[in-house]
Amino acid sequence: MDSLAQISLRPLFPASVSDSEIAQKVETIRSKALAVHNYPCIANYRFVYSRAKRNQWYPQVLDGIANKVILDAGCCMGVEARHMMRDGAKLVMGFDLAETFIDLGFELFGDRAQSENKFFTADFFTDDFEDRVRARLNAVDPSSGGYFDVIFLGSVLHLMNQAQVATILTRVSRLVRPGTGQIIGHTLGLPVPGPLVTPEARVRSEALAQRAGDRYLHSPASLEALLRSLPCSEAHADFSAPLDMAMTAGARPDQMSPEQILVEGFIKTRGSRMMGFYAVRAAV
Ligand SMILES: C[S@@+](CC[C@H](N)C(=O)[O-])C[C@H]1O[C@@H](n2cnc3c(N)ncnc32)[C@H](O)[C@@H]1O
Repeated sequence: MDSLAQISLRPLFPASVSDSEIAQKVETIRSKALAVHNYPCIANYRFVYSRAKRNQWYPQVLDGIANKVILDAGCCMGVEARHMMRDGAKLVMGFDLAETFIDLGFELFGDRAQSENKFFTADFFTDDFEDRVRARLNAVDPSSGGYFDVIFLGSVLHLMNQAQVATILTRVSRLVRPGTGQIIGHTLGLPVPGPLVTPEARVRSEALAQRAGDRYLHSPASLEALLRSLPCSEAHADFSAPLDMAMTAGARPDQMSPEQILVEGFIKTRGSRMMGFYAVRAAV
C-alpha cells in the first residue's frame, strides 16, 4: 500500500492504530476479498481511496451534513460511508450485494458492534428492494420518514446494462427525500454513450466478452437527461472532476491477472473516463 492510501485511510482509524497496522490490515482484507471476488478495483487497492470527496458537488453534501441521513449504495467495504460518518453525517448506512464485502468492512474498521445495523445486503434488482432498504432505515432512524437525504453511487452504474442503469436510478430516486434529496456519485462514461464493446482481437475469454458487452456507458449529456426524466430539479454530470486516479504504487500489474489487465486496457482504448454526477429530487 502506498502512502496516499495510508493518508486516505488514516482519518478512519483511532490514533492507537499505527500506520503499519493499517497497511497490514489492508493487505489482509485485500487478500480475503480477492479470494472471493477477483475485481480489478480491489487488486489495484482502489477500494481504500475516497472518490466521493473529489467529486465537485461533494460540498453540497457537506452543507448541513449534521442533519443528513446518507446511503452508500453498492458500498463494497463501506470506505466512502465511513468517510461520510467521519465528515459528521447524522447517520450513514450502506448496502452491497456481497455479504463478504460488508463483513470485510467490519473486519477492516473493527466496528461491527457499533455499525452492524447500518450495513446490510441488498440487490438493486429484486422486487422488494425499496421496501427492504426503507425497512432497514426505519429500524435505525424512524424519524427519517423512510427517506434518505443523500444517496451515493460510486462506480456502480458502469457495471450495468442500459436498462439496469435506468432501474437503479429510478429506484434510488424514490428513496431520496422529495424536494431536497441528493443523488451523488461517479461512473465511467464515454463522450458518446454506448455499450462497452470489446475489440474482437483483444477478447481472450468468452465470459469477459459477455460481461463487457452487457455494460453500457452514459455520456454526461445522456446521464443528465436520464436524471431529469426521473424527475430531478437539478441534474449535472461531467468529466471535469478529478476523479480518475492514476494507477498507484499499489496497482502492481505484475500482480494482476491477464483478464484484469485486459479489462483495464480495453476500457481505456474506448476513451472512457470517470465522470461525476449530482442530482436533486424534484418536489412531488
Ligand atoms: C466497483 S465496486 C464499487 C464499490 C464502492 N461503491 C466504491 O465506490 O468503491 C461495485 C460494487 O457494487 C456491488 N454491486 C454489484 N451489483 C450489485 C447489485 N445488483 N446490488 C447491490 N450491489 C451491487 C458490488 O458487489 C461492488 O461492491
